[in-house]
Amino acid sequence: MVGILSAAAVAHQSPTVLLVAVGALFLLFVAHRLLFSPLAKIPGPWFTSITSLWIMYHEFLGDRTVILDALHSKYGDIVRVSPTEVSFNNAEALKDIYGIKSNYSKSHFYDMFVYYDERNTFTSLDKPNHTAKKRLVADRYAKSYVMQDAVAEKIQEHAANFMFQITKEPNALDVYTWLHYYALDCITNHLFGSRGTSTLTKPDHRELVYDLSGVKHRTRLYMIFYFGSLMSLRERIRSTWRWILGNSAQFHVRGSRLNDYGKDSVVGFRTGELEKDTISTCAKLFKAVPNNDNQVAAECMDHLVAGVDTTGDAMCITMWRMSTPEYSHVQDRLYEELKSIEHFFDPVTGTAPIGELEKLPYLDAVIHEGLRWRAPVPMTLFRVVPAGGANIAGKTIPAGYTVGCQAYSLHRKEDVFPNPDLFDPTRWLAKDPHQLSAMKTHFWPFSSGARMCLGHK
Ligand code: HEM
Repeated sequence: MVGILSAAAVAHQSPTVLLVAVGALFLLFVAHRLLFSPLAKIPGPWFTSITSLWIMYHEFLGDRTVILDALHSKYGDIVRVSPTEVSFNNAEALKDIYGIKSNYSKSHFYDMFVYYDERNTFTSLDKPNHTAKKRLVADRYAKSYVMQDAVAEKIQEHAANFMFQITKEPNALDVYTWLHYYALDCITNHLFGSRGTSTLTKPDHRELVYDLSGVKHRTRLYMIFYFGSLMSLRERIRSTWRWILGNSAQFHVRGSRLNDYGKDSVVGFRTGELEKDTISTCAKLFKAVPNNDNQVAAECMDHLVAGVDTTGDAMCITMWRMSTPEYSHVQDRLYEELKSIEHFFDPVTGTAPIGELEKLPYLDAVIHEGLRWRAPVPMTLFRVVPAGGANIAGKTIPAGYTVGCQAYSLHRKEDVFPNPDLFDPTRWLAKDPHQLSAMKTHFWPFSSGARMCLGHK
């Protein structure tokens, strides 16, 4: 009888014992992370020592960049973001992480930009792979290449088409969309020559701008990043279902239209243009990798993705800022400067040669300020600390941890860019060489070092 009673008591107590044991283990885990984890001594909210859930929440919400900026304002230039990530906000860290000699790999965050299962210049993670991929395309972005007549004139032709739209609708134009059409036409032209899009003049392919720029993609991108296996299982089921229904189009995060466009353009180029076109990026790639349509398409696709949104957004935000009444003085001054080269403007198309435009100091200052004030890529560019660990801006970070800087915060450092919320192109015309040099060091819209934007010139 006693035996039965004590067995019942243990059975009755065991869930409590289990709970206490789990609770104790959890507390040990928390205490260990708070006190002994390698990032424990890095400043930051205490809970970022314990969990990544908080920053994940802000990533899904879409305000990670501003939240991180607030953390930098509160804790300084070095902030712990999660148990495995640190954010830096100074020139020293820029040099250490992104300098030309840097050996940091990109993190797996970039996996979500992989097209057709092929890594390319943008998505290759480590240095040797990146160097090999970049070698194939880098010359297509040299200034001497872009400024040759055949290339520069095409860009001017697209600008003329954009200007034509403005004259057609003088009262109001959805510049966001039309500037993205302009960017798409310029970039696809660069990639595929005459097989590029003509969205400024024809409706075909305009939906690609939606696929590239729609906000709906953020959640999906982060779902893939964090729950990749589950998402890929779901995609496999979906694509099998599409195959059963007779629609075999491969799906991608930004939509199958974009996916199909990249592949069709490359196949079309190989069959229709390869003999005639010697200057486009696609022509160059086909020479270097003749038997791999997927690799050529993946490379082209990422240049398209990298170039359209960024260029369209940069132009749109700068034009919008100047169009508001409080910044009309900027518009007036720019207008005066452009008037000084009036004789170079084509009276029909309303465009001027690039070579003349790039000599204008105020125009240059306006572009710099637009890219500083609202950098098109404001977020952290994630990198992984190499084997052996690293000392970044004076802090020791173990191998395998994620580190990064973000343009948004670098561009808002008060001591470098006083009154950072003010859109003030004249700051770039400053006479003080120290001030100018500090601004140039912290100006980071295109990243820096070996992985700097290829399209930045
Ligand atoms: C205002 C316009 C642009 C901005 C602000 C911009 C910004 C950037 C940034 C920040 C990166 C580094 C990304 C990272 O490390 O994660 C990058 C990389 C890249 N960008 Fe741009 N970009 C612009 C236009 C373009 C254009 C027009 C193209 C090409 C048509 C282009 C092609 C690339 C490529 C290929 C890379 C990868 C470089 C590498 O990893 O070696 N970008 N861009």
